[in-house]
Parts: sequence; C-alpha cells; structure tokens
Amino acid sequence: MIQKPRGTQDIFEIKSKQYNDLENTIINVLKTYNLNEIRTPIFEAKELFVRSVGETSDVVSKEMYEFFDKKGREFVLRPEGTAPIVRSLIENKLYAPEFLPLKLYYVGPMFRYERPQTGRYRQFEQIGVEILGVDSVYQDIEILAMLDSITKAIKIDTKVELDLNYLVTGKQREIYIKELTKFLVDFDDLCDDCEVRIHKNPLRTLDCKIDFNKFKTAPKMTSFLSKEDEQRFQQILEAGKKIGLKININQRLVRGLDYYTGLIFELKYLESSLGSQSTIIAGGRYNNLVKDLDGPDLPAIGFAMGVERLILILEENQINLNHDHGIDLYTIALSSEAMILNLEIIRDLRNNDIRVETDYLNRSLKSNFKQAEKLQAKNVIVIGDNEIKTQKIVIKNQINKAQTEVKISDLVEEMKAGK
Ligand code: HAM
Repeated sequence: MIQKPRGTQDIFEIKSKQYNDLENTIINVLKTYNLNEIRTPIFEAKELFVRSVGETSDVVSKEMYEFFDKKGREFVLRPEGTAPIVRSLIENKLYAPEFLPLKLYYVGPMFRYERPQTGRYRQFEQIGVEILGVDSVYQDIEILAMLDSITKAIKIDTKVELDLNYLVTGKQREIYIKELTKFLVDFDDLCDDCEVRIHKNPLRTLDCKIDFNKFKTAPKMTSFLSKEDEQRFQQILEAGKKIGLKININQRLVRGLDYYTGLIFELKYLESSLGSQSTIIAGGRYNNLVKDLDGPDLPAIGFAMGVERLILILEENQINLNHDHGIDLYTIALSSEAMILNLEIIRDLRNNDIRVETDYLNRSLKSNFKQAEKLQAKNVIVIGDNEIKTQKIVIKNQINKAQTEVKISDLVEEMKAGK
C-alpha cells in the first residue's frame, strides 16, 4: 500500500471543517485591516531563499526540499512565504506608488524537511501577512493589534504570550556584531553550527538550542540600540500593553530567518502540550529585504502563523469557531417518478444558494431521516405520488418540528425566507 510522505497529512471530514473555520475566521479579521490576498507559486528558485532567509539558517542549510527540473534549473518547494512575496513585488513592480502601501495576506502550504512531531510537519500551512511600503511605529503597533484581533477571534487570547525583541539596525548593528563576535571567539567548545555562525551570522548563535546557556553573559542587544530605535521600541511596548497583550521582552530572541531588522516577535501558547513547538505566530520587520533582492529601498513588516498548531490548540481547548456545517434541506423521493420531480426541485434550490442533499442509494425512509440528522439538515421534504398530484409539499423543520405545507412553485422562496 502506498502511504503519504512522512510529516504530511490527509485532511478530510472534521479536520477539513476545522481548517475551513479557522481560515475563514482569520481571513475575516485580516479583511477588517484592509488586506488583500496574494497567491504565489509553491516552488521557487532556490537562490531566492539562499539570498533572503540566509545560507546559514537551518531552513536553508538543512530543511529545503530541493530539485532540478528537466532543464537543470534548481528549485525548492517554498519553505516560507515572505521571500516569494518580495520576489513577486519586485517582478510585478508592485512598489509603484499607486500600489503602496501594499497590504497582503496569503494562505497556503509550506515545506520544511524537519523531524516530524506534534505541531511540526514537513508540509504545513501558514496564514501570513506582509505590509510593504510603510516604516512607521504606528504600523508596528497595528501589527500587534492584528495579533490581538486574531487571537481574540479564535478565542485563545488568554492562553498566549508575546515575546518581543528589537534587533539593532544600521551602524549600531555593525558595532554590536563586533562586540558579540569578540565575546563568542573566546569559547572553544561551541557546537558545529555556532562555529560557522560566529563568522557568517553571529546573531543567530544567541538562540542556539545547544549552546543557549553559555551565552547568558553575552552583550545585550538592547544596550546597543540607537536613541531612535530605543524610543521606538518603548513606544511599541507601551502600546502593546495598552492593547492588553501579555508581553515578554526576550533579549535572546533573534528569529531563525536572516532578513529581520528592528521589531521581531513570537506569539507563544502558554500551555505545555505543544512542547517545543509552542510558537504559533512569528514575524517582524524586514526593511532591507526588498533592496537585498535587487528591488527598491522599501520597508516592510509581517508575520505568519502555523495553522496546524492553531488547530491543535483549538482541539485541546474544545474551542468551536461555530461555523454552520449543516445543510438547509434533505430531500427524499419515494418513487422513480418522484425522483424526476425531486431532481428538478433540488436543481432549482441549489441555483438559489440553498444547501441540499438527497438520496440516490434507495435508502428506507427511516435511514433517510437518520442520514438527514447526521448531516444536520435543518429541513426535510418527502416527495411521493401525493406531492406529484397536488403539487404541494410539506417542509418538515427538524429543529422546531414545525410542518409547513407550500406549493412546489413557492418552495424556493419559502426556503430562502427561512434561511
Ligand atoms: P517562521 O517562524 O519560520 O516564520 O514560521 C512561522 C510559523 O509557522 C511558526 O511560528 C509556526 O507556527 C509555523 N511553522 C513553522 N514551521 C513549521 C512546521 N514544520 N510545522 C508546523 N508549523 C510550522 C516565517 O515563516 C516567516 N516568513 C514569518 C514572517 C512573515 N516574517 C515576516 N513576515
């Protein structure tokens, strides 16, 4: 028997409803912030991620699904959504003033060759947000407000905490990196990854899972912030508290992707069930990425959330997002003549947005009513000889048990009125 690849999922029945509910709820929130959807390819040139996420990042150095196409071009399945959007912005010249600020959201699968475990998959879904063309502290604050709106909409706001940090920018970044490197070279027992990072990307050593404890006395990034950045960080923190978010300043937070500058954050689930996969939403500002990928100098900020992790949390807390999965009507035809009429009726109803199911399996009346119940049908109609003769039909309301007789020619209007 052929099985699905490790770390992937088949999503059907209740699970697929959970995905739909979650996506719809979050997209509705994002629309209140006037964001528009963008869709980009599932595969991209490998170079795109090498030059953005960074050569020494785990994502690029260890986790990408890479392949050559028939002409020998090197592609990868996208491991994340930010770099593709920046590529798309540059390629489609979306940096033209009439498009700015560009406020986008995306939903789709990402691929990382990681060791699968609870909350960690090789194909997972992200819902992401990218806002390009604004470098305002108010925009940073609005991003925090979005996190608040999202967590409230999916009813997990009391169960999360926001880790914040501010990455030094500009000249101060160079000075900090020098100091940090000085501190790091004194160790002679660092892990292989850190040995490479000292020279290629010293900031990333700070969140090394192996050497974590050795760096407690490392120079603190916040002491190196420029006056402006320090003020901006303070303003963000104050606003974040006003919004009501539980905020932690985490000096060691650097994020695993190389493109960040300024504000960075990770929203964590407070209960332990997700273990080390407790980060559910993460992101930050990336003001240099558009320029680094040969576009104009365009500031940007964004974040992405892991849908599977959110669904695990909803399940664990028995949170139902309350979308209606029932159908409006279940119809039962008692003879082949009745079926001909039934087919006409249900086509008409469906053309008028009424959700209808019927039976082609020749079930008994009893098992048809059972099926209607299983499908959470709000109404049932039974079509037999009498209905054909009188051209009238009884709508049996399954919720309040009311029975309403209507002319078949009025059924659509009646059903629309009852919706
Ligand atoms: P990231 O931290 O790599 O950031 O991923 C964001 C979220 O995707 C994580 O917090 C997690 O919820 C989910 N995620 C990541 N890897 C997996 C996995 N293997 N299985 C399940 N869920 C996973 C980014 O991808 C950035 N592009 C975010 C961003 C957008 N920054 C700026 N704009």
